[in-house]
Amino acid sequence: MTGTERAAAQGYAGSYVAHHVPGEHTRLRTLEAAFDPATFRVLGRLELPADAHCLDLGAGAGSVAAWLAARHPLGKVTATDTDTRFLGFPPLTQVRVLQHDAVREDFPPETFDLVHARALLCHLPQREELLHRAVGWVRPGGWLVIEDLSVRPVDASAHPLFRKVTRAGEKLLATTVGSDLRWADTLAARFTELGLTMVESATAPGTVGDRSATDAFWTTTFDQATPALLEQGLLTRHDIENMRALHRTPSFTDTGISLISVSGRKAAHGRVGR
Ligand SMILES: C[S@@+](CC[C@H](N)C(=O)[O-])C[C@H]1O[C@@H](n2cnc3c(N)ncnc32)[C@H](O)[C@@H]1O
Repeated sequence: MTGTERAAAQGYAGSYVAHHVPGEHTRLRTLEAAFDPATFRVLGRLELPADAHCLDLGAGAGSVAAWLAARHPLGKVTATDTDTRFLGFPPLTQVRVLQHDAVREDFPPETFDLVHARALLCHLPQREELLHRAVGWVRPGGWLVIEDLSVRPVDASAHPLFRKVTRAGEKLLATTVGSDLRWADTLAARFTELGLTMVESATAPGTVGDRSATDAFWTTTFDQATPALLEQGLLTRHDIENMRALHRTPSFTDTGISLISVSGRKAAHGRVGR
């Protein structure tokens, strides 16, 4: 069995982005620096009670949970992850950290004023079912916010090598984890089908080559993915070297991914169904 086949058998926890992989904590911090501003803009617009109970699923290194706790000091924040090792550094105040598998474990119905997940559902083959279950965990009048990465921007890239590299990364995650990095493109329609109201979608571009925070996220992810991309035969050493050279070119800038944030409110009275 190759390393890639072993990884595929374990899903996220066996992939190149699993928490035990050296550099993963730093990579998650670059994800936070890249997209927290967009996330906080979306979450900051929601009408929530002063004592709101918020759930952050697949909380990673915890920046969203920490922000929610600071914003709602009279409320409660529950931060979950299958692997909670990064949720204690620095210690999260006023956050309940819970080791919890969103695919296999539940919460009581109508528990939270806000259910949020970023860069989680796109990686879970059971994403449709989880979306439906997550709606059930929202209280009437509460909010569901799902944010996921989409690689659709790369389809319009003028750089064939950047397209190849981004699609190789997309395929690597699809085959080793079961990720779908295009699912987010149709997420807003699903929110409406699920009966959520006030559905809004916002898109934040992940620019590369401009020394931005999203560029740093791309760089750490590319570096970490390189061994698996080579092992799976999705890229050659030549591709990797050429991509690094393109990335160093002062005039190079492009957009490979975007963060799509979809929010919707559960009706205060009435039914929400499939
Ligand atoms: C790409 S990271 C995103 C982290 C964080 N949400 C963020 O955006 O900064 C995905 C996170 O989901 C967690 N995860 C993967 N599968 C999970 C599952 N079945 N239930 C809960 N968390 C899971 C991973 O351990 C990881 O921390």
